[in-house]
Amino acid sequence: MPRRRPIKGTERSAQGGRHIPVLLAHVIEALQPTKDETYLDMTYGAGGYTRAILDAADCRVIAFERDPTAIAAAQPARAEFGPRLELLAEPFGNLLGKTQAGDFTGYFDGAVFDLGVSSMQLDTPERGFSFQSDGPLDMRMSASMASPVSGPSAADVVNTYDEADIADVLYKLGEKRRSRAVARAITTRRTEKPFSRTLELAELVRKVLGRGAPGKHPATRTFQALRMYVNDELGQLVEGLAGAERALQPGGRLVVVTFHSLEDRIVKRFIASRSGKSQGVSRHMPTSIESVRPPSFQIINSRSLTSSKAELEANPRARSARLRAAVRTTEGPWPLDWSGLGVPRLKT
Ligand SMILES: C[S@@+](CC[C@H](N)C(=O)[O-])C[C@H]1O[C@@H](n2cnc3c(N)ncnc32)[C@H](O)[C@@H]1O
Repeated sequence: MPRRRPIKGTERSAQGGRHIPVLLAHVIEALQPTKDETYLDMTYGAGGYTRAILDAADCRVIAFERDPTAIAAAQPARAEFGPRLELLAEPFGNLLGKTQAGDFTGYFDGAVFDLGVSSMQLDTPERGFSFQSDGPLDMRMSASMASPVSGPSAADVVNTYDEADIADVLYKLGEKRRSRAVARAITTRRTEKPFSRTLELAELVRKVLGRGAPGKHPATRTFQALRMYVNDELGQLVEGLAGAERALQPGGRLVVVTFHSLEDRIVKRFIASRSGKSQGVSRHMPTSIESVRPPSFQIINSRSLTSSKAELEANPRARSARLRAAVRTTEGPWPLDWSGLGVPRLKT
């Protein structure tokens, strides 16, 4: 039986003003860390989940993290946990290729995703994620002040993409409302001076959209869309889920915490289809495949779990978090079929 030692990490993070792990007690309850088992933390971040797993049982964690700054900050945890913690400095979408190459197949007893960005990333203006404090318009999770970067930054997107392509990104990954007007204003403004700072973009969006709902900056969805695009967050999610399906052994637990509806829809459909429960989930789901394929997962909680009032008071960033969980069956993994998962198709 897994032991039930108190979960450390949450309090320490809160006091230090750093990332507070979201839905942590539910995550540990769903994963049930057990002695001598091995777990995958797909999104190491500040290591809050990893630490709680390693504190809950004498087990091992292998963690993905694409942010070099987070990897550097993990050095004390690596020293503390020694061979019980291994960090892979790469995107978790790579897990699919690894399992297809025969690495890690059926290796893990649990895998957890905590999607999106960490408080350290959001609260460091130099990373360019924030519409509230000024910084370079970057938003690449793999970017850090100390390392070379890859892929287009948010500034590259708004300064060089066609107006229609910018509108498409904003419409499909963020603010459906007036995405064309925002894209038009961006391409007009950049002819005078290219965007280089977060507040230049945030201010322009505010001018186009007005003040917005109370307590919500009008540029929230524009920044969300650009961040998701720049980091290919939904593509990573699909490949990460398919990788986890192959990497989990029978009885292994899949636990996913999402922060907005686009992510949650993909996770819900992935788990529902592979559990033979997708009826009513999607009219696009290929029911013929389901009817011939035995389920590779069994759903643990039919409804997603959300944060308690107490957690929301302690950590407002938990407000849109949803947890879904499933257990791997003995059946083989399904072929990866992107249709029916609800991933928006972008023009570019
Ligand atoms: C919400 S934080 C995770 C926080 C962590 N659970 C904790 O308790 O400290 C998300 C982290 O995942 C990382 N991340 C996001 N997408 C990733 C991907 N595709 N591959 C690897 N790391 C990713 C981000 O860089 C960020 O550090």
